[in-house]
Amino acid sequence: MPLAVGAVILAAGEGKRLKLSGPKPLAPCLDKRLVDFPIRELKKFFAQNRLEGKITAVIGHQRELVRAHIEKNYSDISFAVQEKQLGTADALRAYFNSSTSTTNYEYTLVMTADTPVIAEAELSQLLSVIKEENLEAVAASYIETDPKGYGRIVRGNTGFHIVEEKEATEEIRKITEVNSGLYLLKTKYVLEHLAKVDSNNKSGEFYLTDVFKDGLNVKAHCFLESETFLGVNTLHQLETVENVLRRKIKRAFKEAGVRFIDSSHCYIDSEVEIGEGTVIYPNTFITGKTKIGKNVVIEMGAQVTDSIIDDDARVLAYSVLEGAHLHSKATAGPFARLRVGADIGPEAKIGNFVEIKKAVLDRGVKVSHLSYVGDAFIGEESNIGCGFIACNYDGVNKHVTKIGKNCFIGSDTQVIAPIEIGDDCFVAAGSTITNNLKNGDFAISRGKQITKEGLAHKFIKKKN
Ligand code: UD1
Ligand code: CA
Repeated sequence: MPLAVGAVILAAGEGKRLKLSGPKPLAPCLDKRLVDFPIRELKKFFAQNRLEGKITAVIGHQRELVRAHIEKNYSDISFAVQEKQLGTADALRAYFNSSTSTTNYEYTLVMTADTPVIAEAELSQLLSVIKEENLEAVAASYIETDPKGYGRIVRGNTGFHIVEEKEATEEIRKITEVNSGLYLLKTKYVLEHLAKVDSNNKSGEFYLTDVFKDGLNVKAHCFLESETFLGVNTLHQLETVENVLRRKIKRAFKEAGVRFIDSSHCYIDSEVEIGEGTVIYPNTFITGKTKIGKNVVIEMGAQVTDSIIDDDARVLAYSVLEGAHLHSKATAGPFARLRVGADIGPEAKIGNFVEIKKAVLDRGVKVSHLSYVGDAFIGEESNIGCGFIACNYDGVNKHVTKIGKNCFIGSDTQVIAPIEIGDDCFVAAGSTITNNLKNGDFAISRGKQITKEGLAHKFIKKKN
């Protein structure tokens, strides 16, 4: 029979010190919200260890917002409401009162919503410790050089107890082993001891930490990496935690064969994929659901969001891609802007100061300089000269431009959409195209040139 674990995320507190509007569990963290991290890692933990059970979030402060976010993004998370934030033990009582099934799981795992670095590995390690040492409960601890504000681990001959900062004597405050707030407990054990927790302490709160006692079969398992347990109470801590998470993401990419010139200034979100052999320059933002293939180059200053970049493509310096697809061996930039729906075919070339929106450019198309291409299809190997504009908007509606393959569109050409240009067409530079062209047509539309020999002096104004 698979082992059953009831996992609880304590997310009812107010988090006043964060100074953000909205509840703390919904504070932004990389491309997600704080509460998404424990949920994601718990799901991995359940899968990894083939556990049965469910995840419950204890909500309280601004609970409708927290609930709405979780319900929108996950279908399998339960809720327990803690009416008043009377402390962490009270929050866990709210969990056990929320449904009778909570008391049936063999183990109860408690996490908080504000420690996004804790990963499946730590959760799995606690599970092995409690099983292998046949313990009633285990608390994750670590060494904190500046332990102020944390509960201190006071080890007995057997067992241990936790003293909160407010209750601690000078002597106990010197202890640097602190409580992380992550616990795995036998459900039977926690139910028995939770019932005895009172609020006779300096803050009048029910401390969950009081379920750990000397002389009992409980253990504080001390982890070496203190970074793992960083909590988010202030904006400074939020920045620190985001940097730690990004470092972990970049470390994993390096191990998978992605090369960074200086990864300290690369910002990569948690769902991004990057293939082996890709090189990333500094000052780059790669965010959202971006997928980057193998042997791609992302140069400095590039910003890539929700985009697909296939193998061997290159994003040159200071280019911005959002919802774009750059096919294999295509290049964009420097200073290119590919907006939503820009689909740049294999070996195509988008140059500097070119904006592309909702446009499919086939294999080998070149738009090398200073152009706008919106709502368009351009056939393979067509060359679009400098300063091209697809005039797609009539002030009310957007219209489509179609250009066939192997066309040569001269520089400084505007096409007034809706418009269709066939294959193998030639449009002379400086033209404004308003009528469709059939395959092989030539078009020119510009004012006739008049030359007056030697008359320039009449028009050149001289400063006196
Ligand atoms: C808690 C621990 C402390 C530990 C620290 C680690 C207790 C008594 N102390 O202190 O030993 O070192 O975490 O970060 O547990 N919450 C509720 N309902 C409540 C109160 C809190 O859901 O009534 C939630 C909060 O939203 C938060 C978590 O529980 O996610 C922890 O609460 P917090 O007030 O931050 O506890 P700390 O004082 O940090
Ligand atoms: Ca805290």
